[in-house]
Amino acid sequence: MATGTQAYGESWYWDNRYTNEPGPFDWYQKYITLAPIINLYVPPNQSILVVGSGNSAFSEGMVDEGGYTDVVNIDISSVVIDAMQNKYRNCPQLKYLKMDVRDMSAFESKTFGSVIDKGTLDSLLCGNNSRQNATKMLEEIWRYNETMNKKSIALYHFCFILNFFYS
Ligand SMILES: C[S@@+](CC[C@H](N)C(=O)[O-])C[C@H]1O[C@@H](n2cnc3c(N)ncnc32)[C@H](O)[C@@H]1O
Repeated sequence: MATGTQAYGESWYWDNRYTNEPGPFDWYQKYITLAPIINLYVPPNQSILVVGSGNSAFSEGMVDEGGYTDVVNIDISSVVIDAMQNKYRNCPQLKYLKMDVRDMSAFESKTFGSVIDKGTLDSLLCGNNSRQNATKMLEEIWRYNETMNKKSIALYHFCFILNFFYS
């Protein structure tokens, strides 16, 4: 069994953590701090995917303060997804799905204009098979790129935004 930071790549670790710490909690930065860079690179009139969303209030901030209208959140932890689905059951702009970022085949290509990660790549890099898992995550995200022209990639500390514009 993985121990220490290695456990950050394991779903059981996150299920336990979210059971014991229901949150909300934002890793690294809150929406308000990142809003200038988000607003700069992520147009509001598109579907946005937030991977490894956890129990962060980041996506709520995107809707309430940023005016974003379609924010889809995925996480590998069923505990946190159940809690967030319940919390935001009356907020149609926010959707929560249990999904592994390493296999997002449930989505069709060209579904999202932007993909945002804050802390999930870091978690995979801390876990076992970090290179394979991080590569798989990025391949899954880049898979959308086959049919799009990539115009910009914004990197901010442990947060990255892949911003795609349809050709
Ligand atoms: C460091 S937390 C960041 C949470 C949130 N994005 C934030 O900024 O506060 C990492 C999140 O990634 C999720 N996660 C870890 N591995 C994952 C995977 N393979 N697929 C989807 N989510 C994953 C964890 O459950 C956890 O919620």
